[in-house]
Amino acid sequence: TQTAAEQLTDRDLSEQIKKVTKDSHVRAENTELMLSFQRGQVTLAQYKLLLCSLYEIYQALEEELDRNSNHPGVAPIYFPAELARLESIEKDLEYFYGQDWREKIVVPTATKRYCHRLRQIGKENPEFLVAHAYTRYLGDLSGGQILGRIAQKSMGLKSNEGLSFFAFPGVSSPNLFKQLYRSRMNSVELTEEERNGVLEEAVRAFEFNIQVFDDLQKLLSVTENQLHNGSA
Ligand code: HEM
Repeated sequence: TQTAAEQLTDRDLSEQIKKVTKDSHVRAENTELMLSFQRGQVTLAQYKLLLCSLYEIYQALEEELDRNSNHPGVAPIYFPAELARLESIEKDLEYFYGQDWREKIVVPTATKRYCHRLRQIGKENPEFLVAHAYTRYLGDLSGGQILGRIAQKSMGLKSNEGLSFFAFPGVSSPNLFKQLYRSRMNSVELTEEERNGVLEEAVRAFEFNIQVFDDLQKLLSVTENQLHNGSA
């Protein structure tokens, strides 16, 4: 069911990256946090903590993309007007935590490791940034669109308050935009070695996300236990 605009071959980066991350995607979908989302049982505590981590992650990712926007491996997939998430996450954090949200955000260790890696490749291997941009942005434009609606219902939020993260006002058709993004990914010239590096980095990007979700969940279970024991 491919359209003429989307005749992909198995030599295309967009196809290879999807293939190598397929198992990781299944594992990411089956983390406790993502299962809560899919069951319509995501709690305010879970969502607030997730937003804190997303803030750190997108800050690192978007700073590195901005800084490397002229790099030949970044320029074709650089879409700040359509994709940038940092400001929408800030709006959501302010909605949930109030004006002094910056003093209240909680960042688990796994999130710090993920951000450290983003900044490291931004400095040392900017051609690997596409792997991270793909993992986050194409995910946000795919399953993320469903998760936003579920989150709204689960938390009983009115309209789209606190849910700017999921909204892409600069993207009128997520599917068409994903096609454009894939064709831009496929236009990046990479040596065999660089291509393998990008594919490895994409698997790693999913792994970082899974670790962030697991770390968040651990943090939450500690807090809940403390509440039950009356020590918090
Ligand atoms: C694509 C669902 C979590 C990254 C998709 C698609 C769906 C989906 C339905 C579209 C598949 C297609 O067009 O062929 C979900 C659900 C999730 C989830 C229900 C969790 C509840 C994640 C996470 C990540 C992620 C945690 C990464 C951090 C991606 C990427 C794509 C994608 C990169 C694009 C694949 C491609 O076309 O190359 N997801 N997803 N997803 N998802 Fe997820």
